Amino acid sequence: MTLEVSDLRVYYRTLRGDVRALDGPTFTVADGEIMGLAGESGSGKSTLSKSLIRLDGRMRYIGGSVTLDGDEMPIWDDRAMDEFRYKRVSIIPQYAMSAMNPTRKIGKMIAELLESRGVRFRDVRDELHRRLELVELERDVLDRYPLELSGGMKQRTVMVISTLLNPSLLIADEVTSALDVSTQRAVAETLVEFRDREFVKSMIVVTHDISLVYQIADTIMVMYGGRLAEKASAKTIIEMPKHPYTKMLLDSLPEVGVKYEDKRLSGIPGSPPGLLNPPQGCRFRDRCPLADKQCLEQPPFVEVESDHHVACWKAE
Ligand SMILES: Nc1ncnc2c1ncn2[C@@H]1O[C@H](COP(=O)(O)OP(=O)(O)O)[C@@H](O)[C@H]1O
Ligand code: SF4
Ligand SMILES: [Mg+2]
Repeated sequence: MTLEVSDLRVYYRTLRGDVRALDGPTFTVADGEIMGLAGESGSGKSTLSKSLIRLDGRMRYIGGSVTLDGDEMPIWDDRAMDEFRYKRVSIIPQYAMSAMNPTRKIGKMIAELLESRGVRFRDVRDELHRRLELVELERDVLDRYPLELSGGMKQRTVMVISTLLNPSLLIADEVTSALDVSTQRAVAETLVEFRDREFVKSMIVVTHDISLVYQIADTIMVMYGGRLAEKASAKTIIEMPKHPYTKMLLDSLPEVGVKYEDKRLSGIPGSPPGLLNPPQGCRFRDRCPLADKQCLEQPPFVEVESDHHVACWKAE
């Protein structure tokens, strides 16, 4: 098992109290698995992603554990995480393309990054060149500034950089959101190719667009309000979802082959709960057509069928 996450809780400290953005997910990612992570904006996807790499100043580790290839990751200890970060677990953050330092040539930036990880540039130079070629980039991108590259080129560059040391786990957070549809597809295919070539062992591909991950993911995990709603094979999630929220997410998608102009996205009525004072019990309660008194109690995330986990009292 590449990744094992158990009852992980990470909150944001604010003046008004703790925002319970990640409230106890327990799940695994198997060797070779590409897991799509879906859910509306605000469901905790980025908080989960960041927790596995680096807690930013306002994030507070509350409890739970994370194990990578059998080794516990000390996510509460920023220094100790240097052993893992970039080398064993790597992220392509949301907005990575615009976050690239505009005043540094790309090659120089890579050299500095490697140096900060105790790796000599010349030891990986040949492999870097090979991988740039693989994603159809000329070597001379290394002598260029990020501004000189198109969105798609930048995204491919970031993909190569973030996987250069063959991490076990790559987290890709909304990496295709800012791209046009054909570039999106190319980026998604590259992610699969990187897994197939074993540049990375497993992947978490975060998206608010479940139809995109469906094309590349082996499994899909759906989050809602800082908790897990459902996880199963991509096919099962699309064809036989059990959680009412997953069903509504899917219903809100345009039908395959139907253009956006033809069918407006229906959207899901209501909005996700605020996580400063989240509602008791099932966090989907006030939007759920099936809610009843039992839902005042939090439903456990349980395996209802083989490799199909759901947190809903009515999922049987
Ligand atoms: N820096 C922050 N301070 C306080 N709350 C935050 C912060 N960042 C995110 N949140 C809250 O945490 C929850 C999860 O956010 P996030 O992980 O960004 O969701 P997603 O990536 O699924 O859109 C949301 O309720 C959001 O408002
Ligand atoms: S536990 Fe209740 S409120 Fe939550 S999704 Fe299931 S039926 Fe709806
Ligand atoms: Mg996000």
